[in-house]
Amino acid sequence: MVAAAILAGGIGTRMGSHTPKQYLELNKEPILIHSVRAFLTHDRVDRICVVVPQIFCDETRKLLQDAFGADCGIDVIAGGENRSLSLLNAAGFFSRTCPPDTVFITHDAVRPFITKRIIDENIDFCILHGAVGTVIPAVDTILMSEDGQFISHVPPRKNAFHAQTPQTFLLGKMTQLLESATAAQHAAFTDGCSVFLQAGLPVYMVQGESYNIKITYPDDLSRGEEILKKFFN
Ligand code: CTP
Repeated sequence: MVAAAILAGGIGTRMGSHTPKQYLELNKEPILIHSVRAFLTHDRVDRICVVVPQIFCDETRKLLQDAFGADCGIDVIAGGENRSLSLLNAAGFFSRTCPPDTVFITHDAVRPFITKRIIDENIDFCILHGAVGTVIPAVDTILMSEDGQFISHVPPRKNAFHAQTPQTFLLGKMTQLLESATAAQHAAFTDGCSVFLQAGLPVYMVQGESYNIKITYPDDLSRGEEILKKFFN
């Protein structure tokens, strides 16, 4: 069984728009709809739930029905205060009806340029290794700073990668780890791989795409329109 959670529970502070960025349009369709379509049309994905801010639940159900029909079978659930708590809600939701060995794909709703190849590799390597992160090699050298003022560490560039999504985990283990995390840990986890790594568990890397960007700032919308034209026509 493969279950996908599309994480759309944020409010897009950095985008600065009144409407959360996952509802802004690319090629006349909400960004969220592009992301969901990639999973809905994937032949190995059995279940999809979309995690949104509580007040957007009804509106999102309507958007999904308009885009994919009343019987599309996509669940909409409320997210949490931070990304990790939204992930916890999705894991808990699927855990009620799916077995622990379910392949649990987690994807940022605001990364609409996801490909079938990336989803396939997430599924295949999660079955082999139990946890997967999608990455691209760092182009620039990455500098680490403990205090935000002085550079404390420069990892060799060949060892540095940028995290993308999907990130994919065995559902039972991820649910157990998220349920046992403290509020402070949830606030610190910016992604699901960190949850496995802090428990000392290995996470396998699959290759993403440079165009699998996260729509974050206003300029990303025009970049996104170009990516759609170039890679998805
Ligand atoms: N997300 C979520 N629940 C939250 C916060 C974020 O499901 N409580 C989701 C976002 O909707 C997004 C993804 O996690 O699809 C990546 O987060 P990010 O790009 O940081 O989104 P926002 O939190 O919305 O943006 P910002 O950090 O600018 O406020």
